[in-house]
Formats: sequence, structure tokens, C-alpha cells
Amino acid sequence: MSAHFADREAVAFVDALLARMSVEQKVGQMIQGERMAVTPDDVSTHHLGSILSGGGSAPGGNQPADWIAMNDAYWMASMTDAPGRAPIPILYGVDAVHGHANVLGATVFPHNIGLGAARDAELVERIARITAREVLATGVDWTFAPTLAVAQHLYWGRTYESFSDDHALVTSYAAPMVRGLQGDLGRDSVIACAKHWIGDGGTTGGRDQGNTVITEPELERVHMAPYLPALAEGVLTVMASFNSINGVKCHGNKYLLTDVLKHRLGFQGFVVSDWDGVDYLSEDPAEAVALAANAGVDMFMVSVEWKRCLDLLLQHANDGTIPMSRIDDAVRRILLVKHRYGLFTRPRPAERYWSQQSCLGAPEHRAVAREAVRKSLVLLQNNNALVPLNRDARILVAGKNAHNRGHQCGGFTVAWQGTSGNDFIVGGTSIWEGIQAVAPNATLSEDGTLANAQQHDVAIVVIGERPYAEGMGDIRPAGAVPVGSSPAGKTADLAAYGQTLELSILHPEDLATINTIRAQGIPVVAVLVSGRPLIVDDELAATDAFIAAWLPGSEGQGVADVLFGDYPFTGVLPFPWPRMAPRWPRGFGL
Ligand code: GLC
Repeated sequence: MSAHFADREAVAFVDALLARMSVEQKVGQMIQGERMAVTPDDVSTHHLGSILSGGGSAPGGNQPADWIAMNDAYWMASMTDAPGRAPIPILYGVDAVHGHANVLGATVFPHNIGLGAARDAELVERIARITAREVLATGVDWTFAPTLAVAQHLYWGRTYESFSDDHALVTSYAAPMVRGLQGDLGRDSVIACAKHWIGDGGTTGGRDQGNTVITEPELERVHMAPYLPALAEGVLTVMASFNSINGVKCHGNKYLLTDVLKHRLGFQGFVVSDWDGVDYLSEDPAEAVALAANAGVDMFMVSVEWKRCLDLLLQHANDGTIPMSRIDDAVRRILLVKHRYGLFTRPRPAERYWSQQSCLGAPEHRAVAREAVRKSLVLLQNNNALVPLNRDARILVAGKNAHNRGHQCGGFTVAWQGTSGNDFIVGGTSIWEGIQAVAPNATLSEDGTLANAQQHDVAIVVIGERPYAEGMGDIRPAGAVPVGSSPAGKTADLAAYGQTLELSILHPEDLATINTIRAQGIPVVAVLVSGRPLIVDDELAATDAFIAAWLPGSEGQGVADVLFGDYPFTGVLPFPWPRMAPRWPRGFGL
């Protein structure tokens, strides 16, 4: 990437463009507004640089055609060649973090934690390449992926977005992800975004948007490590993180955003803020905007108040609170990325190659997702070699996550917090549907009450978590002071998922279902659908086989492929697995 940015033709093009731009046009490029708050007219009137979909924010009927029509309208507006207005095409960004999962009918891949269990960098690159095509099929050109978090605490609601707590494993996936997404920056490529810079996975207590207390050598060794191959691979954007490092918020940390990332590591793309992340720097919006811009934020991701942000940037540019050299640097970076991506010469979204294909959810894409599910499964217990199962056995399938494609997809799927049931996951198979397709004598009894020793040889009980995203996935012990990244602890308002990692407390219904079946003397295979390892001492004691399936996505069939022996178990834990601490020490006695 640095080679390109030294490309004389690119630099000449951008400098010439910059020289023609008014201050209004410059600060306009630094704004990314959310689609619900921005019209095409806003884009042309205010020269906006980018639009995004927050998690679950979709146009019309949420079909590819709706997305293409939306992007076409924004793009046309950005290319309005008003007098003195340099036409600068707009970028559209989404969270395609496990496939383009906002969109109905997309291929939904396992979340990153499951890919960590697969230990297969080549598979990760193929997934990224397919994701790029399904993103392009909707006229979108930028995804806020890969997440390079090295999650250190299972309490964190974003553990599942992390490949592992081992920075070496995360590092091994960084370049393949960027390569798969950005490729040769040609027709099949989207712009990638390494996130969240920096130390998002290291907060105290796993608090989402909390504070990471760490020495600089440790920050470099653990959390920065995965960014090096991503930068070397030419990732074009980096997202600033909500969390703080030793009490200083990343969005306002000039040392980490500019001195380290841009100067020492030579990043020449642009830094985008996280969702209203700039607001968290100060109760005074004007001060917050100046702090972020001067620290090194180049593009401001704003959910609703984008006009205020724009006006404040303009005010700061005119009064010098933000030096024009900083404004020019930010805009140059944004224009260079757009130029590097070929955006100035790409046709309108509706006329681009992948907009003309109907590749969303294509069978060959789903086949790769199914392969990923197979490779992500981890066999944790197998008493009496119960699995693989005989597909002709009389099988009882139970558990709240057995026939729930929404639950098996997890967060950032159709809705920010994910969905429940099967209606919103169009295409794909639930774990039950996958079993039913190959086992002629399988029956479904979600709570297990149909269990009958005379009618069933074995049970498969699919248990675990419901979908969640970000702070709403946090585990916050009772009485813990919820810290968030906003001055008023705004994220504290997000209800935590629970107060403990103990599944039998978080979801007692699972052990109840298992016990109902065991009461019949039927052997049980537990399949855990969750965004992280949980404490399952009770469930392990009550079952014969136990499988971690993570958040497998739309292709639940992959579970049956391995359960019945068509493929071996090859997945291994990407995180250590917790257990209850010993209740009493050896030697204890009243
Ligand atoms: C969210 C997340 C970030 C995501 C962004 C846009 O709050 O922190 O990962 O890319 O907002 O949805």
C-alpha cells in the first residue's frame, strides 16, 4: 500500500483535486452519516464522503435490489457536478463481519471465534473473498472488517468477534482476511477496515468500551501484533476503538492514532471513528470534534448528528482550532483510498459487475460456510465414544437452539442484536433441519418432554446463548460498576447479558431439558451454541458427549455432517475453557 501511496500519478491526481476543493467540500468528505439520517440531497449539498448502515439498518425490503437502488441514488448525488464541485464518488460501509449478514438471504458464516477453532487461514481467505462478492452484490464497497481484537476476558460481549485470546492466532488470520476482502482492489474487491484500534479486547473485566490498563510493550505484543500483517497487506482503513488505554480514550489519543499508527507504522489510509465514538470525548461536542480530528481521526462516523459534526469541523477549520494542514491530511488520505480503490473510475453501483449477478447466498458460497461450520466444531467430551452417531438411530433432538437459525447466527445478523426464530434467516438450515435431512428416525421436542426410553436411542440437545452484540453481550457481576466509554457512562445503559458465565444460571432451561431426557435413561449429546466458552460443569456432568459449536451461522447442516461421521472432528479451542473454581481447597473441614 505504501508503494501505491508514493505513486506519483495518484498523488498528483489527489493534490490537484484537493486544490480545487472548498473548505466545505473538504470537511464534507470527512463525514460518514448513517443512511437513516442522510438523503441523496444531503450528499450533494454537503459533499459527504461516506454513508453507512449501522447493524441491521437496511433499505426497503432488504433485498439486493433495494441496496443497489439506495447506493445508486447516493452515488449519483455524490457525482453531481455542481459548478465548482469536484465530483467525488461516495463510499458506503457496512458490518459484513461474518458474511453480509445484514441482508436477507446472505450467506452467514460462523462468527470469528468459530473460525479461530478451525485453525485454517486458507479457509478464512476464501470466506473473505466470498463475503466481498456478496457485499458487492448490493452495491456496497466497504466493510468494517476484519475485527483484530485479541479478547482477553470472556465477560466481553464481543468475544465472538475475536478469533482468539492468543495474539499469534489472530495475527495469522489478519493478512488472509485483508487479502480476501481487498484482493487486487479490482472488480471483485471491497475496502477492508482493521478494527478496533487499539486494545479493544483487553479492557478490565471485559467491559465493552471500558478501560484497558496495560504497559506499552504489552499493548504492542498482544493487541498491535495483528495489525502489522494487515498494514503490510495494505488494509485501506482502520477504525478507532471506543475503549480507553490507561484512561485515555482511543478516539482522542494522538500518540496512538498518529504517532504510532500513522507515523511509526506508516499507515497511509484513513482512520474512521467508531459509531458516535467522538461524542464520548467530551460533554462539549465542539471540543470532542476538535480533540478527535487533532488526534488523527480522519472520517467521522456519525449516527444522527452528522450536520452538527460537519458544522463544527467547518467552524474549527475556519478558526484554526483544527489546522488546515490536518484537514488537508485527512482529506488527502480519504481521497487516496478512494483513488487506490479505483472508485473514481468505477461505474455507478447499479452498473457494476457484481450488482448484475445474483450471487447472494449462492449454493457454492453456502458450501464454504458449511465447510467452516464443520471445521469449527470442537469435541470436548465423548464418554463411551458416543459420537459419531448412527444416522438410522431413533434420535430425539431437543433444546432451545436446535431449530433456531436466528440463534445460531448470533449478533450482527439482519439486526444489530441478531434475531430469534427462523423467519429472518432466509436460506440455510437450522441444526435440527440438518439432522432431519440425514436421519430418518429423528424427532424434535424442544423441551425434551417427548423423551421416551422405549422410543429413543439417543438425544441431541442444542443449548446455549441467545444472540447479542457489543455491551449487551457483556457479563457484569452483580454490583459491578458498569464503565463505558462515554463521559456519562452511556454504554452502562446497555443491559448486560447476565451476571455469570455459568450456563446453568444464565439459562437453567438447558439443564432442565437435559435432565428431562436423562430421566428416561437416554444418552445425551450436548451441542453448545454460544459466543464464548461458558462454565458448563453441570451440563458436562449430565451429558455423555459435549460439542462446542460457537455461532455457526446459516449453514447448521455442517453440525450433522460431523455428528454422523461424514467428517471428523478437527476443531480445537481458540480460547481456554473455564470451570468453577474449586469450591473448597484440599484439606478443608469444619
Ligand atoms: C459499532 C461497532 C463497530 C461497527 C460500527 C458500525 O458500534 O463498535 O464495530 O463497525 O458500530 O456498525
